[in-house]
Amino acid sequence: MGSPEIQERVLKRWFPHTTTPFIANAPMFGFADSRLAAAVTRSGGLGFIGGGFDFGPESAQLARLDTQLAETRAELGIVSSTGALPIGVGFITFKPAGFEMNAIPILEKHRVAAVWLSFPESDADHLPLIEAISKIQAKGDWVVKILVQVGTVQAARSAVEQGADAVVVQGTDAGGHQWAQGASLMSLLPEVRDAVAGDSNKKDVAIVAAGGIVDGRGCVAALGLGADGIVMGTRFIATTECSAPSFIKQSILSASDGAISTIKSVRHDVFQSTDVFPRQYDGRAVISLSWNDSQSGVSNEEVIQRYNDAAKQGDVQRRTIWAGASVGVIDAVVSTDQLIKDIQQQVKLAVQKITELI
Ligand SMILES: Cc1cc2nc3c(=O)[nH]c(=O)nc-3n(C[C@H](O)[C@H](O)[C@H](O)COP(=O)(O)O)c2cc1C
Repeated sequence: MGSPEIQERVLKRWFPHTTTPFIANAPMFGFADSRLAAAVTRSGGLGFIGGGFDFGPESAQLARLDTQLAETRAELGIVSSTGALPIGVGFITFKPAGFEMNAIPILEKHRVAAVWLSFPESDADHLPLIEAISKIQAKGDWVVKILVQVGTVQAARSAVEQGADAVVVQGTDAGGHQWAQGASLMSLLPEVRDAVAGDSNKKDVAIVAAGGIVDGRGCVAALGLGADGIVMGTRFIATTECSAPSFIKQSILSASDGAISTIKSVRHDVFQSTDVFPRQYDGRAVISLSWNDSQSGVSNEEVIQRYNDAAKQGDVQRRTIWAGASVGVIDAVVSTDQLIKDIQQQVKLAVQKITELI
């Protein structure tokens, strides 16, 4: 089993501005924008921007990413355009055409610190993307690390073989899209740690845990399972810097008992006509009016109709609210800085408490 203490130094070496334990925000497309990412980095974490999934030559998503990265540099007060930007970018990769041609130049231009890949049609599709990013690694004079989010041990193995520097192990408590057939962090993470330790004796590979972590307790658990750091998605939505609309933040605050109030399904996408992910993925979201209609026998066509009618009238009640199974523990919108400092402090106290116990 790898030692968390030794591995943590790997993340600290790659991202020297970070404090420990390592905390990053998930690159939630549409929600993880420049303001949140800059706040996370400024607070000692690694901020990620959600870069989207469209790599076409006219991609509005990439144009927006370009602007967001420039804004982040300004927010962080890094005046020189040649200095590295301590920010990562996450991409959804099930339609990878155009990545090298259209996304790579933006990453190079802004000298980002990390690239996160997630949700390929097949694991093999990541190889050319990782190779393209590795070319920047090789010729650049700043550090850019490759993280691949995985939901199975097999996907973790492929990512490491293909050259990923880190795997983000995503358990099924996670909010948002994820492997339909997956496992909790409790079972997945130790097995990934063992597999990666066996497969990667030539280089350091970091393991970051994602899925249901919202406070110091979850962070300690993840480190205990063999992670080098953590990623949080849902928890960062309920921060002052996240651009999510207030009804989404409110829904996360008011939800309790995530075992009952959230559910994993492809239907969340079907209802709002965003069912574009390959079939091996589904998503966890708060149980909605649409979900309840569907459970009581209303056809998908009718649920979609009701969704569209509501949306036309500006009624947001049917919108899918992606959230993890730990929503019940989130009870306040706080600043990113407060959140990161609180979690790092809670971790220290929890470790002390465990030490006393044993
Ligand atoms: C609102 C929302 C949007 C997300 N969008 C993305 C995304 O664009 N790309 C991605 O790789 N993961 C995305 N995820 C999944 C996260 O990467 C991560 O696995 C998840 O948030 C971890 O679980 P947690 O929400 O319980 O912290 C999203 C999650 C949420 C809650």
